[in-house]
Amino acid sequence: MHKDKKAAHAGINTAEIRAAATNVSDGAVTAGYKAERKEVIALLNGALATELVCILRYKRHYYTATGLQNSPIKAEFLLNAQEEQHHADLLAERIVQLNGHPDLNPATLTARSHAEYDDSKDIQAMIKANLIAERVAIESYRQMIEMLGDTDPTTRQMLIGIMAEEEEHADEMRDLLA
Ligand SMILES: [Fe+2]
Ligand SMILES: [Fe+2]
Repeated sequence: MHKDKKAAHAGINTAEIRAAATNVSDGAVTAGYKAERKEVIALLNGALATELVCILRYKRHYYTATGLQNSPIKAEFLLNAQEEQHHADLLAERIVQLNGHPDLNPATLTARSHAEYDDSKDIQAMIKANLIAERVAIESYRQMIEMLGDTDPTTRQMLIGIMAEEEEHADEMRDLLA
């Protein structure tokens, strides 16, 4: 008897789900979404600002690093700029899925970013600035993942994927330190 009751509770109520799904203007956000949507959007906008600043910093380093011996390092800067761009795209897309507005306003970008811009001329100073920025990014993603818990599994999974790439970036930059 108890077993049957349990099974009924564990099942999916299709009628209920279908009725709630008719709020079509909510797009991907459904009735059972457990996170504080506006707080998640604010967190994601902070991460987006950080990624945009990281793109600019890596691009600046890519264009200004000189010396034939530094070609592999330049290539790494360019690759990382492209990966940060991909992170920015993922974040902006997720913000829109959550019915938020991605903030790409350049006027407030550096104030909203967790990591800093850098225009060092010396290649080792560039590498060090990037390593610090990557460590800032890793830690801020870690905190966001902790804050989300299991309230928004899609956002959580995305942030874990991005954080893993920031860890790779940090490791690469450390390898390049003289
Ligand atoms: Fe990134
Ligand atoms: Fe990175």
